[in-house]
Amino acid sequence: MERAPAFDPAPLDDKDLPDMKRIALFLLLLIAGCGEEAVDRQIPREEAVALARDAAGSAFQALSAELGQAIADGGTVAAIPICSDKAGGLLKGVAEERGLLLLRVSDRPRNVAHAAAPADLEAMESFRATLSGGASPAPSVLPVEDGSTVVMLPIVLNQPLCLQCHGGADDISPETRKAIAARYPEDRATGYKLGELRGIWRVTVPSR
Ligand code: HEC
Repeated sequence: MERAPAFDPAPLDDKDLPDMKRIALFLLLLIAGCGEEAVDRQIPREEAVALARDAAGSAFQALSAELGQAIADGGTVAAIPICSDKAGGLLKGVAEERGLLLLRVSDRPRNVAHAAAPADLEAMESFRATLSGGASPAPSVLPVEDGSTVVMLPIVLNQPLCLQCHGGADDISPETRKAIAARYPEDRATGYKLGELRGIWRVTVPSR
């Protein structure tokens, strides 16, 4: 029996399918296009790591120099403001010069503003595992959806000078302990030994 043309879906399909295909293709290209664009904007991994290393290295050198000088001039207690008041501005300067973001974070922060986020904690765990095996950890690199790249580098407590403010009971003088407690009642950044992971540099390198 012949079907009535009104019930035959074929003419409808023939007419509409090309349009739907066009829309689907358009959407596909749009999605693929966006994806490609995000990948294109991400700075190459090695380049991001090099920029991050340079920024963290410069910041560390500047900070160590200031700290060493202040301790030599006035002792450990007098040097605490270098870490408290000057470090932030110093790091900001280094970061702004290079057009990136530079932060020091830790799972046992002295300043609560430096508490590690979940991704930082993951990086710290893997850095610790590598250090305990006697090797030096490779940077951890996280591409972010917005096109930026986060590079995490280990901060190993490797100078005896650091122990004066981050070491154990024998390393930190009572005056220093008091001064730190007064300023940082929630301090968790003591009890470290030389060679231990103290925190990480979290460097955010923007897309190009
Ligand atoms: C004179 C005391 C003093 C010395 C010496 C010192 N620090 Fe600190 N450190 C501080 C203080 C105070 C802070 C908190 C800074 C702030 O409020 O931003 C701090 C913060 C930090 C942080 C940021 C995370 C956090 O806990 O807030 C890291 C990482 C760090 N120190 C590593 C080191 C290393 C590595 C050395 C040795 C090169 C060192 N420090 C030497 C006093 C010191």
